[in-house]
Parts: sequence; structure tokens; C-alpha cells
Amino acid sequence: MPKAFRPIGIFDSGIGGLTVARAISKRFPQHPLIYFGDTAHLPYGEKSPELIQHYAARITRELVDLGCGAIVIACNSASSNALKEVRSIAGASIPVIDVIQPVVEAVAQRFEGQSIGVIGTRATIDSGWYQRLLQERGCRVKAKATPLLASAIEEGFHAGKVSSTLIEAYLTKGAFDGIKALVLGCTHYPLISQEILSLLPEGVEVIDSADSVARALSDLSDDFAMGESDSQNPGLRRFIVSDLTRSFQLGAERFFGSPVILEERKLSGQA
Ligand code: DGL
Repeated sequence: MPKAFRPIGIFDSGIGGLTVARAISKRFPQHPLIYFGDTAHLPYGEKSPELIQHYAARITRELVDLGCGAIVIACNSASSNALKEVRSIAGASIPVIDVIQPVVEAVAQRFEGQSIGVIGTRATIDSGWYQRLLQERGCRVKAKATPLLASAIEEGFHAGKVSSTLIEAYLTKGAFDGIKALVLGCTHYPLISQEILSLLPEGVEVIDSADSVARALSDLSDDFAMGESDSQNPGLRRFIVSDLTRSFQLGAERFFGSPVILEERKLSGQA
């Protein structure tokens, strides 16, 4: 078989990880991408660490079996609760990039010693992972779980009354007084970043992980995804979901502004 770029495997519970996939696809136009949305099991943010580990491990197995040469966990809930499990399945030869460490690195470089806000799902905030990593890098952290946001976004509620009311309820009452930047610790949230920004005091920056993650991937050795591959189509994008849902279909099409062909693939053991 000829040498070619092996696909980059990217996964999330739903459409949120597409924000990361888009940044990766811009930086790696030659690489095929395989996106896995675990629509049968979202939201991850309300699941226990054990269940998130279970799903993340099964998706990783699928992506490895599909020949992926690198895996991106485009989900903060899985990055903070299942990184070890994903790494152990990917093995030493397939690099794994999570969405938290690259953004922490970028934030720490710019805001050392300053106060940083983080919003994310319950699973992410309760894991304490952002708080620990940012504190280790000398930042003060104000973290808050914003549990309803990801489901609302998945259902198509952004740039409207519902999302504004929710964001307002989460961001007001002084929870983030004095912060210099607010990290969007959920890959769904970039879809409402303008609304979030408009409710923060002037001068506070809103930071998402997409570009930092794409950069972290490009910091890997050039041939991280080179290998024998039967892919004839370098720029191929595949979108796989564990349950063919209308909300994912509409969300993905709204996101890309063009029709998206979805494949359904049940995870092993899934009913
Ligand atoms: N987009 C995901 C995250 O970054 C998951 C949201 C969810 O399924 O609750 O945490």
C-alpha cells in the first residue's frame, strides 16, 4: 500500500467538537478527517466519570480500527475524565491531543498570575482538572459549571432568547468579577461566544480551545499521521454518529453552511 496521510480522528458527544474539527481542517487541509459524534449518549457533561471513560474508550477503539494516525478528544468532559483511557487504547504509536492542556498552556503564557474564569459542563468543572492545571501555572481560577448550555446549543438554541437568558443566569451575580479572560471549557460554547462576550465586562477576553488544539497537533512531528493508508482522497471528511439524529444533522449543516453526509455506527455493546 502507498504511504499517505492517515486520518485524524476527532470525537465529541455531539456538534461541539466540530468547532475544533474546523480549526484542524484549516491547518491540515491534506489530511483526511474522521469525526465521531456520540449522539446516542450526549450530554457527556451529566454523566459519571466511569461512563464517560467507557464511551471515550469505545470511540477510540473505533477510530483506531478505522486507521486514524492521531486522535483528538474534542470534548472537555472526556478530556478531563478519560484522557488516560483514551491514551491506553491509542497506544504509544498514535498521539492523543486533548482540548484542555493546549488551552491552559496558551492562557498561562499570556495571563500568568492573573485571575481566569472557566465555564464548562458539570463533568469538566467537577473533575477539577482546569483548576489544577491553571493553578499550577500560576493563575487564579474562578470556575463554574454551566450545565444547560451544551444541550441548548445541541438543540439549536444559539443567538436567541433562550441562550441569552441561560448565559445571563450563569454569568451574572459577580461569579466572574475581576477576571482577565474567560475560558470556554466546553467545545459547544464557541457557538455562543459572541453572546457570552456581550455579557462580560469590557476588556475580558473569551478564549476557546480550537486554535490551540490545532497548533498542538502541528507541533507533533511532521509525519505523525503518515502510514500505509488505502485512502485515495486526502481531503476526505467523514462524519460518523452513534445515533442518526435530526438535531446533529441540522446542527452540522448550520455549522458548515452546506449539506453533510452522516454515517451511523453503533458503539460496540450499544443497543
Ligand atoms: N462538547 C463537550 C465538552 O466539551 C460535551 C458537552 C456535553 O455533551 O455535555 O464538554
